[in-house]
Amino acid sequence: MSTTPPPDPARVTRVTCVGAGVIGGGWVAHFLARGYDVTAWDPAPDAAGKLRRLVDAAWPALTQLGLAPGASRDRLTVAETLEEACADAQFVQESAPEKLELKRELLAQLDAATPAGVVIASSTSGYPMTDMQTEAADPSRLLVGHPFNPPYLIPLVEVVGGERTDRSAVEWASRFYEVAGKSVITMERELPGFIANRLQEALWREALHMVANGEATVKEIDDSITEGPGLRWAFMGPCLTFALAGGEGGMGHMLDHFGPSLKSPWTRLEAPELDTALRDAMVAGCEEAAAGRSIADLVAERDQGVIDVLRATGRLPKGAAE
Ligand SMILES: NC(=O)c1ccc[n+]([C@@H]2O[C@H](COP(=O)([O-])OP(=O)(O)OC[C@H]3O[C@@H](n4cnc5c(N)ncnc54)[C@H](O)[C@@H]3O)[C@@H](O)[C@H]2O)c1
Repeated sequence: MSTTPPPDPARVTRVTCVGAGVIGGGWVAHFLARGYDVTAWDPAPDAAGKLRRLVDAAWPALTQLGLAPGASRDRLTVAETLEEACADAQFVQESAPEKLELKRELLAQLDAATPAGVVIASSTSGYPMTDMQTEAADPSRLLVGHPFNPPYLIPLVEVVGGERTDRSAVEWASRFYEVAGKSVITMERELPGFIANRLQEALWREALHMVANGEATVKEIDDSITEGPGLRWAFMGPCLTFALAGGEGGMGHMLDHFGPSLKSPWTRLEAPELDTALRDAMVAGCEEAAAGRSIADLVAERDQGVIDVLRATGRLPKGAAE
């Protein structure tokens, strides 16, 4: 770890977000709502306008949840260069496209531009940090802080370091995210896809197979979750809910009873070929399911739904409006 100690996680006031698309913009909205000064940088020519539109769209939901004292959209600065964005950062969140070479080079650039000792986290959906920290002069402060969309509403962040990450950086980041209002899982070892995306991907692969084979429509797949297991998963995970499937015998009975059917060939674990026909079927199916609602309408609907679930299950952030 570098010689300059990072600031106390609870005393951080300035955060830098690099890459300001769906996830980077969502992080910007989250940190602004929690009362931080946020500097963003994104190389796309239209990035600043897009970012401000994303933050504006998120703000009603964040206001409904309750803004931290002093929180303001005016505390966002869009920097002209990566170096300017990182010069006085106290924490950096990288959310650039999911391409390994790009991440490697970008993380090395961020390491060179950021004050010594300041932790740099990547939003990657699945690359292990060991594979991304190869080019950086100081890999000890690089780690994964994997969020879920939208980062301003979904509490979970999975935190994990790579082989060359210092343990103290992982502990610092976990504490920082908690102070910043997130729910943190600190993983002890690297695992491609971390925890939640491995689970999501298994379901997603099977959904694509079902559409590709004409076995179910997009709408049927979505309804099967929102009208079914999805209702339970919002407050009780797949293991405990299955324990209840065993009645008074709990998980033991459940495994004895249903365990042998695991051998039935229900699911396909290989990814399907993502050919044009499947792509077209998924796009058409989603358009049909959206039934005229725009992406902005669906974002607003999703945001309200997440807030309603958090409220109903007693998990609104501290200070949130009742
Ligand atoms: N979309 C999701 O649901 C989701 C969820 C969790 C994590 N992630 C991860 O977050 C990261 C960003 O994904 P996204 O969905 O926001 O993508 P996106 O395409 O919406 O945004 C990526 C942004 O990065 C910018 N960019 C391009 N090159 C760059 C560079 N060299 N340096 C900095 N920025 C650059 C682009 O202009 C764009 O604005 C990826 O690593 C992805 O795996 C995505």
